Amino acid sequence: MNVAVIGTGYVGLVTAACLAEIGHSVIGMDDVPSKVATLQAGGLPIYEPYLAELVTRNMVSGRLSFTDDVAVSVRNATVIFICVNTPPLPSGEADLSYVENATRRIASIANGYACIVQKSTVPVRTGQWLERTMNIYSEYPEAEYDVASNPEFTREGMAVEDFLHPDRIVLGVKTDRAERVLRELYAPIVEGRFECPIHRECSAGQGIQVQVTDLSSAELIKHASNSFLAMKISYANMLADLCEVVGADIRQVVKGIGSDKRIGSSFLNAGIGYGGSCFPKDLKAFVNIAEKHGVDFSLLREAERINEARVEMVLQKLRKALWNLKGKRIGLLGLAFKPGTDDIRSAPALVIAKRLLADGATVVGTDPHATRVAEEVPGLSIVKDAYEVARGAEALILCTEWPQFRELDWAKIKTRMMHPFILDGRNALDCESLRASGFEVVGIGI
Ligand code: UDX
Repeated sequence: MNVAVIGTGYVGLVTAACLAEIGHSVIGMDDVPSKVATLQAGGLPIYEPYLAELVTRNMVSGRLSFTDDVAVSVRNATVIFICVNTPPLPSGEADLSYVENATRRIASIANGYACIVQKSTVPVRTGQWLERTMNIYSEYPEAEYDVASNPEFTREGMAVEDFLHPDRIVLGVKTDRAERVLRELYAPIVEGRFECPIHRECSAGQGIQVQVTDLSSAELIKHASNSFLAMKISYANMLADLCEVVGADIRQVVKGIGSDKRIGSSFLNAGIGYGGSCFPKDLKAFVNIAEKHGVDFSLLREAERINEARVEMVLQKLRKALWNLKGKRIGLLGLAFKPGTDDIRSAPALVIAKRLLADGATVVGTDPHATRVAEEVPGLSIVKDAYEVARGAEALILCTEWPQFRELDWAKIKTRMMHPFILDGRNALDCESLRASGFEVVGIGI
């Protein structure tokens, strides 16, 4: 099947590469010529496991190409994915001008049949606007199109794996034709008919639910899923605060809660809070949509407030351990919003760094992949590894639970520190053995 993907950010690039990998002929289109040039030259603008090999292999086989010309990508495509960004406006609403612009350009070019699929995270009812935009701006009377919503649920750092092995595929459609086209598109994944680039042997295709819905329900599912997960994290963080006061251990508490199948154990790890390009933005946008429609979403506002308060919690713990922060050297282990990615968007580590700098501390950080943070946080020094971070530090804060931080030579770290204090912001270190080696260690809710 011929597929066009408009927008080659995280979502678009993964979609394009994975659809080519399962046998489709895909053209990725982006307005930024330098990005297209990088991709055409075999480079990748982002780090994502397995993505480079998928892009290279499928470019070589001729199933994947990139262009900055929307006409080239759209002209022969049966399925057109819109994967452009929807950045937040100051009000918290999503800026949909890129989506509208992409749709208008498709309308001016498409002259046969195309199923236009919204994959960017958008407010409910965007599909209706998309259809209206196509109706108004379509330049060819013979053009036929369906509009669909196919939200993505891929996690950064796991995007290729999640795309090829999803729990569910949601198809929001208005016509049987659109359902047929999209079922055919995803058939290799649903039926396990592809050679998995990740696992030697795997259960590709098993247990995948294809849920066909109306357009608005599909659009809601994405925001509602992310908000629910964010709410779970804030719930665990709220419990962690109580655990500290009453002398309980949040790790035991969430283990006890999570073993109830109705609740489930994932997304209950307490820590310095969630970040990333999705949860903070999606929660804000979802609250905004609900309130615009007169529905009280204060439950989600509270989840957001709890998350934002995590930074103050970190500062309080530091002040308790160090008294004043002014002039003290504080080290950050991990800057990315989570392990497995170089993404620093809404990363709690950067918010913490800004607050510490504002308090007059000297802040030094390191991350295995997220190293381009200098412009984001002026004053934050980035060094090559944890041992450099530890030099002269009065406290280390583990902000991102990269596995390599668990395997550090802690004796070496201790000799370099001015004062051996560790704040384990993700409850990821072996506190007992660190304490036995002479560190003062504080976790979250333990
Ligand atoms: C999320 C959704 O999981 C994915 O389905 C959607 O498509 C995009 O948004 P992502 O932003 O990549 O994916 O990250 P995720 O793994 O969900 O983690 C989000 C944040 O929550 C991270 O900052 C992580 O550190 C934090 N988190 C996660 C916790 O603090 N505790 C947990 O128990 C789990």
